[in-house]
Amino acid sequence: MTSSPLLERLSARLGPKGFTADPVAIAPWAEDWRGRWKGAAAALLSPASTEEVADVVRLCAEARVPLVPQGGNTSMAAGATPDASGDAMILSLRRMNRIRALDADTDSAVCEAGVILADLHTATAEVGRRFPLTLGAKGSATIGGLASTNAGGTQVLRFGTMRTLIQGIEAVLPDGSVWNGLTALKKDNRGYDLKHLLVGGEGTLGVITAANLRLVPAVGARSVAWIGLDTPDAALDLLRMLEAAMGDAVESFELVPRVALDLVLAHVPGTRAPLAEPHAWNVLIEAVSPMAAPSPEKALYEALHSALGTGLAADAVIAANERQAENFWRLRDSISEAEKQAGPAAKHDISVEVAAMPRFMREGSAAVESAFPGTRVIAFGHLGDGNVHFNVGAPLGAGPEWQESEGTRVTSYAHDLVVAAGGSISAEHGIGQMRLAELARLTDPARLAAQRAIKAALDPHGIMNPGKLVPPAPAPGAGSLA
Ligand code: FAD
Ligand code: MLT
Ligand code: ZN
Repeated sequence: MTSSPLLERLSARLGPKGFTADPVAIAPWAEDWRGRWKGAAAALLSPASTEEVADVVRLCAEARVPLVPQGGNTSMAAGATPDASGDAMILSLRRMNRIRALDADTDSAVCEAGVILADLHTATAEVGRRFPLTLGAKGSATIGGLASTNAGGTQVLRFGTMRTLIQGIEAVLPDGSVWNGLTALKKDNRGYDLKHLLVGGEGTLGVITAANLRLVPAVGARSVAWIGLDTPDAALDLLRMLEAAMGDAVESFELVPRVALDLVLAHVPGTRAPLAEPHAWNVLIEAVSPMAAPSPEKALYEALHSALGTGLAADAVIAANERQAENFWRLRDSISEAEKQAGPAAKHDISVEVAAMPRFMREGSAAVESAFPGTRVIAFGHLGDGNVHFNVGAPLGAGPEWQESEGTRVTSYAHDLVVAAGGSISAEHGIGQMRLAELARLTDPARLAAQRAIKAALDPHGIMNPGKLVPPAPAPGAGSLA
């Protein structure tokens, strides 16, 4: 139980802006984005500096009280949601929202953990640069959360995940000590890379307080197109053809099935279909050229013209202006919101080898829909990364209880198919609490043991985000795979 002397000390250290134990103020932050996981917390702590974070962690470590780091609370794995006991405290980084440095000469930005992704996009544009990672939750997701989940998004094809864009990290470790690793060293071989343990560590090994991020030149011109086609196989062939024709100008290549587009059109006000006729599959493409280089539009037009000629694509439209380009992106970025409104679904975030994904989607969808009559697979997303959100919608009329009963069985079934195909059950969203049991069930024991050992070494009292990412060791003699 959380002792009130601790609450008093935290309140005194953080002041009224940084501390609340009011259940009404805490409630919105104690449940996940989908409203599926509901927890409780003894307090919401919102420090405004690294020193305050360090003091909070030290006090909680001494009292053995768990902390759940939180940024924008947009986790798709319920990673920032405390358990229902009310023993933990939420450690919000949202007040730490300063861009400490923005340097166009060195192409770097040092951001505090609570900087919102969209705000960083705006700030970098003002100095002729950009931070090349984006996703549908950019208006809420924070640099600390993105780093801690090693987030992906819709530009991974060209620029990689957060891990490839992080040059340095500042963090508070589980005993309250501060590690300053913000310097952007291109080469550094001093052994285990603490930065890369914290990135993707989901707040289980410490609190990221700031990150040094790599920037790239601002976009000179972009061309955004919406393509209708028949199969995911045709979509992947189209990507390869575009890459051959346009090199790395293609920054985004997002797959949208008809069923997902229909959900968006039905649930998101002000949206309309880009093509005259519906197609079984759609692709959203963004091609980009740097400043002072010719626009990518002509090359994209010619490549798409040729794809239409060979029958690889069935129809295509290139956005006539920025407004139309943004409307195409809105269709893509609203899929999760539309799914949320459409009812229960078992959500999966899977990857297999890129070339194997079309076949996996074909065979996996047929297998799931036949094993669970009435369900329908809605697989969309980052085809060029070999990562789709292989979501399975509940049969019509199913209530929320479907999720816990049948939905859990659907998930195990789908994950078994992924593991059989040599893939991963978490491509970009992380494990959180949502995939913890599945990670324990499906992970090589050697890897799990190493993960537990790292956790125990850095966080011996287990105060950092317990119940997330690292499955508990099985009871002696339990005989489980994990
Ligand atoms: P939170 O949700 O608050 O936290 C996420 C995890 O990081 C938790 O485990 C938390 O404890 C930990 N954490 C947060 N801040 C810190 C910190 N400072 N130090 C240590 N640990 C911390 N994800 C993708 O990868 N690709 C997508 O395309 C994508 N699209 C999305 C679209 C929508 C509409 C939504 C709602 C989510 C999407 N996500 C996507 C998931 C989500 O946006 C990302 O996981 C994001 O990185 C979470 O950022 P956040 O600030 O909201 O973190
Ligand atoms: C996306 O690509 O839109 C996301 O990762 C969100 C989701 O899986 O729902
Ligand atoms: Zn995604």
